[in-house]
Amino acid sequence: MTSLSQRPANPIVGESHYHESAYEHVTGRALYTDDLGGRFTNLLHAYPVQSTIAHAELKSVDTSAAYEIPGVVRVVTAEDIPGVNDQGTRGDEPMLPVDEIMFYGQPIAWVFAETLEAAKEGAAQVCVEVEELPSLITIQDAIEADSFQGVQPVINKGDLEGGFQLAEHVFSGEFEFAGQDHFYLETQASLAHFDENGQLFINSSTQHPTETQDIVSHVLGVPAHEVTVQCVRMGGAFGGKEMQSHGYAAVAALGATLTGRPTRVRLNRTLDMTMTGKRHGFHASWKVGFSDEGKILALDATLTSDGGWSMDLSVPVLTRALCHIDNGYWVPNIRVHGRIAKCHKTSQTAFRGFGGPQGMLVMEDLLGRVAPKLGLSPAELRRRNFYSEDQDTPYFQPVRHADRLKSAWDQVISTADIEARQAAIADFNARNTYVKRALAMTPVKFGISFNLTAFNQGGALVLVYKDGSVLVNHGGTEMGQGLHTKMLQVAATSLGVPLSMVRSAPTRTDKVPNTSATAASSGTDLNGGAIKDACDQIKTRLAQVAAGMLGVPAHEVRFARGVVSGLSTTKTVEWQELITVAYMQRIQLSAAGFYRTEGLYWDLANMKGEPFKYFVYGVSASEVEVSAFDGSYKIRRVDIVHDVGDSLSPLIDIGQIEGGFVQGAGWLTLEDFRWDTSDGPGRGRVATQGASTYKIPSLSEMPEIFNVDLLDKAHEDGAIYGSKAVGEPPLMLAFSVREALREAITAFGAPGTSVELASPATPEAVFWAIESVRDQQDASQDIPARDALDVRNVPS
Ligand code: MTE
Ligand code: MOS
Repeated sequence: MTSLSQRPANPIVGESHYHESAYEHVTGRALYTDDLGGRFTNLLHAYPVQSTIAHAELKSVDTSAAYEIPGVVRVVTAEDIPGVNDQGTRGDEPMLPVDEIMFYGQPIAWVFAETLEAAKEGAAQVCVEVEELPSLITIQDAIEADSFQGVQPVINKGDLEGGFQLAEHVFSGEFEFAGQDHFYLETQASLAHFDENGQLFINSSTQHPTETQDIVSHVLGVPAHEVTVQCVRMGGAFGGKEMQSHGYAAVAALGATLTGRPTRVRLNRTLDMTMTGKRHGFHASWKVGFSDEGKILALDATLTSDGGWSMDLSVPVLTRALCHIDNGYWVPNIRVHGRIAKCHKTSQTAFRGFGGPQGMLVMEDLLGRVAPKLGLSPAELRRRNFYSEDQDTPYFQPVRHADRLKSAWDQVISTADIEARQAAIADFNARNTYVKRALAMTPVKFGISFNLTAFNQGGALVLVYKDGSVLVNHGGTEMGQGLHTKMLQVAATSLGVPLSMVRSAPTRTDKVPNTSATAASSGTDLNGGAIKDACDQIKTRLAQVAAGMLGVPAHEVRFARGVVSGLSTTKTVEWQELITVAYMQRIQLSAAGFYRTEGLYWDLANMKGEPFKYFVYGVSASEVEVSAFDGSYKIRRVDIVHDVGDSLSPLIDIGQIEGGFVQGAGWLTLEDFRWDTSDGPGRGRVATQGASTYKIPSLSEMPEIFNVDLLDKAHEDGAIYGSKAVGEPPLMLAFSVREALREAITAFGAPGTSVELASPATPEAVFWAIESVRDQQDASQDIPARDALDVRNVPS
C-alpha cells in the first residue's frame, strides 16, 4: 500500500479534467436544491415577516389577518417551535424572536402558503407590535458602547516592550475596513419532506449537512436519526452556507412537520442580502516598531470584528484573523488582542479565508503605509521581512517550507519581468500628469486545517459493484470548487481504475455520518484521505484474489487504469474480471473510510500550538492604471505563482486561483456593502439590497492579462497524493491590487508620500485619496489644489 502522499505509477491525479458537472452547469441541466421542488405537487412556499426596526422589544405578533389571504396554510412564530428555539450552536441565536428583535430584516414569523405570492401577501398582513430600543449599527457604535460578545483572545509572544525599545522607527495607526456579501449565484435554499420511511428528508444548499441535521433535530426535538440531510450541489457558498443555511433548513423542516406537506424555502436576492451574515468588517489599531534596515521588531495590535447580533462563527473567524496577522513575515515580539463587536445587524459569518484575509489585510495595509516613511519600496520592505525556515509564528508553529515563499516571489519577479516593467511604469508616470500606473507585489501564507482539532476528520463510503463500476460517497459538499472532480481522481488513482468507471453521489448524512463542514479549504485533504483509506481496504482484499490469478505474492500486485498486474509476471487481468472472481469468492467489495489529520494541537485559551497541517504560499504582482479625474482604474496585468503542492487537478486548481483572486479584488475594490446609519426610520436597514447597488466583479473588471502558474517542486509530504488545499488562499493574492492602487495614488503626490486608502478602494475612495495626496503636495508647494485637476486644464 502506498503512503498518503506518494503517487502510484500512472496516476489519474495530476491530470487536467473538466469539472465533473461542467456540461450540466453550462447547459442548465445541473440540478440545485430548489429545482427538486418541482417533483412535488403539493409543495408549500415560505416567506418571512421581516423586522423594520434594528432593535426593539417584541410585544406581540398577531398572525390572524394572514389567514384571510387565500392560499395561506400556516403561519409560524417562536411559540410553534417544538424543540429548542435556536438556529446556531452557541445558544444565542433564536430562530424566531421571543421578546427582542435584534436587526432590521430579522424574520419574526414565517408564512407557508400554496404559492409564493400568497405567502408574501400573508406575511404583509401579520401585525407586529414593538417598542423601539436604542441600536448600535456601526462597529464604532459598538466599541463606544463597550458592546462585545464571546471571548477576547490574545496572542502574545516575545518581549513587546523590549522590541519597541530596540526599534529605531515606531509608527501607529488605525484602519477600518468593510466586509463582503457572499453573492453566491444560488441563494439560501432548503426543501423538506417526509419520505416513504417516515423520515424527514431535507435537501439543503449547505456546506455542512451534519450540522444542518443537528440543528433541525434540536429545533424539532427529535433524534438525529429521524432527519436525513442531502446536498446535491451548491451554486456557490463561499462560507455563507457553513452555518447560515441551518436556520432555513429548520424553517422548511418546521413547515413540513406542522403541515405534513413538502415545504420549500428559497430566498430571493433581497431576502438573502438583508437576512444572512456577511464577511466581518474589522477595525484595527496598531503600533509597529522597525529597525533601521526595515525589519519588524514589534507589533502591538487590537482587532475588533463586526460580529452582528449573534456569535455564529465569529469566535473561530477571529481566531484565524489573529493567527494570520503575520502573513508571510516574521514578527519576533508581538501582542494581538481580538474582540467581537455585538451590534444590531445580520450575524456575520464565514467567508472564504475565514478571518485570515482580515488579519493579513491589516499587515499589508500597515506595510503599504509605512514603507514610504522608512524610505523603502514596499516590495523591498516586504521581502526583507519574509520568514525563514527556522522561525516560528506568533502562536509558536514553525514555518515549514518558508523558502517556498521566497521561491514564488523570485519566480514572479522573473516570469512577470518586473524590473523592466517598473522602469516602463516610471517612464509612463513621468510623461503623464492625470493618469498613473503602478505595480505591486504581495505574498500569501495561509494555514490549512480547522483551528479546532476535532473538526479535522473525514469519512467516505466507497462501493464497488459486481460489474466493476464504482460509486463514491464522501462527507464533502460540492459548491463549484471541484471537490467531487478531485475525489473521483483520487478514487480512480487509488483503486487503479479509469476515471470513467467512478461516479460520485450527492452528499448525504445517511451515507457518511458526523462529517465536518466543507470549509477551511480542507475538503480535499479530509475526504480524499478517507476515500483513499476506503479504497486501500478494498484493494488489500482484492490483491489477495489477484495474487492467486496472477501467480505472484499479494504485495506485488499493482492496479492502474483498469489493468491488474504483478511485478514478477507479464500476465495481467482486467479489473472487471478480478471483480467477478472476487465476488464469487465472497470478498467484500465496499468499505467505509476514515481520515484524521495527525499532529495538530491547539490551545485556544493561550492561543498557542500547531493548529495547521501545513502552510500554502503564493505571490501575486498586479499592475493598475488610475485616472485622477474620477478615481477610475483598471487592472492591466496580473501574474501569480501559487503553491498547490503536487496538483491533483491542475485545471480545477487554476480555476480556484483565478476565481479566488477576482473575488478578493471584489472585496477590496468594488463591493461596498452599506447599512443605513442615520437616526431616521430606516436605521439599520441594508442599503445595498441587490446587484444594482452592490457591485461585484464582472468580466469587465478582469485583468487584461492574467497569468497563473503553479509553484514547481511543491510536493507536500503527509497530504493526499502530495497536494495542498487551494480553496481560500488565492483570495488574498488580491492584496497586490489594493497595494498597486495605493502606489499609483502615491505617484500623484510628492515622492515618499504615505497614502491611506479606504477599503473597499472604490473609484470614489481612490479619487479622494488622490485629492488628499495632491493637497499635501500642493500645500507644500503653495499651489491651489483644485486647479491642477480642473478639467479645463486637460489637454485634449
Ligand atoms: N469555489 C467555488 N466555485 N464556490 C465556492 O463556494 N468556496 C470557497 C472555496 N472555493 C467556493 C469555492 C471556500 S470558502 C472554501 S472553504 C473552499 O472552496 C471549500 O472547498 P474545499 O475545502 O473543497 O476547497
Ligand atoms: Mo470557507 S470560509 O472555510 O467555507
